[in-house]
Amino acid sequence: MLKRCLKMLELHLHFGKITIGDDMEVSLDGRRLPSKPRLLKDLANVLMDRQVLDMIGASTVLYRMCRDAVHEKDVSAFRNHAVRFDITVISPISLGDEYNKTLGHYHPEAARGLTYPELYQVLSGQAIFLLQRQEGGRLTEFRIMEANAGDAVLIPPNFGHVTINPGDDLLVLSNLVSSSFESVYGDYISKHGAAYYVLKGKRMIPNPEYGQLPPPKRSGARYPISKDLYSDFISCPRCFSFLNDPSAIADRFLI
Ligand SMILES: [Fe+2]
Repeated sequence: MLKRCLKMLELHLHFGKITIGDDMEVSLDGRRLPSKPRLLKDLANVLMDRQVLDMIGASTVLYRMCRDAVHEKDVSAFRNHAVRFDITVISPISLGDEYNKTLGHYHPEAARGLTYPELYQVLSGQAIFLLQRQEGGRLTEFRIMEANAGDAVLIPPNFGHVTINPGDDLLVLSNLVSSSFESVYGDYISKHGAAYYVLKGKRMIPNPEYGQLPPPKRSGARYPISKDLYSDFISCPRCFSFLNDPSAIADRFLI
């Protein structure tokens, strides 16, 4: 259920009430969660058009990330299984012709030849996930996944990812991911973003830094959930053991 108040968004979910203030700060059942903002200047190197820095303030908050956005009573359940539950709020602001987006990152290797996977669920708004895979320094695969409120998607091992807000409203996302690693941002920064830029009207523009590119592949794949990522994890933490050990079910990811 979604209730919109003046400059405030309330999401009534199975695991609690999420409130987003007009500053994109997040509360869970009335408790303000610590968050880290990403500012326009943090994304300076991944913009298609750096003139955006002069058009909107460099200190404009593009999105907020709340790590470990869980109830006190559930902290040990997540910690004991080395899994993190986060909430991210992405503003609908435009970056020139580009939609607002996250910086983009890869995950390190979790098992031989497989990096850590991740699960996302759209809690409110619209999302475009850009997934890309590189082998031997060459980009070999690029996927686009569009998702709406309620949809859950899997970022398979070995894919870097960027999330885009193509809508006119806030995009609110949750994610489940191993707590055992730090994301790797360097490649996105040095190559000035993902392999394709997504402009208004969902036009795709190749990023020349990557050279020869495969055409983008659309994927409508959804990860099956019962209630929501948080509630499903609390009901069955071992069902998410692949977040720390993707080798056990690697075949499932080779779609
Ligand atoms: Fe990630």
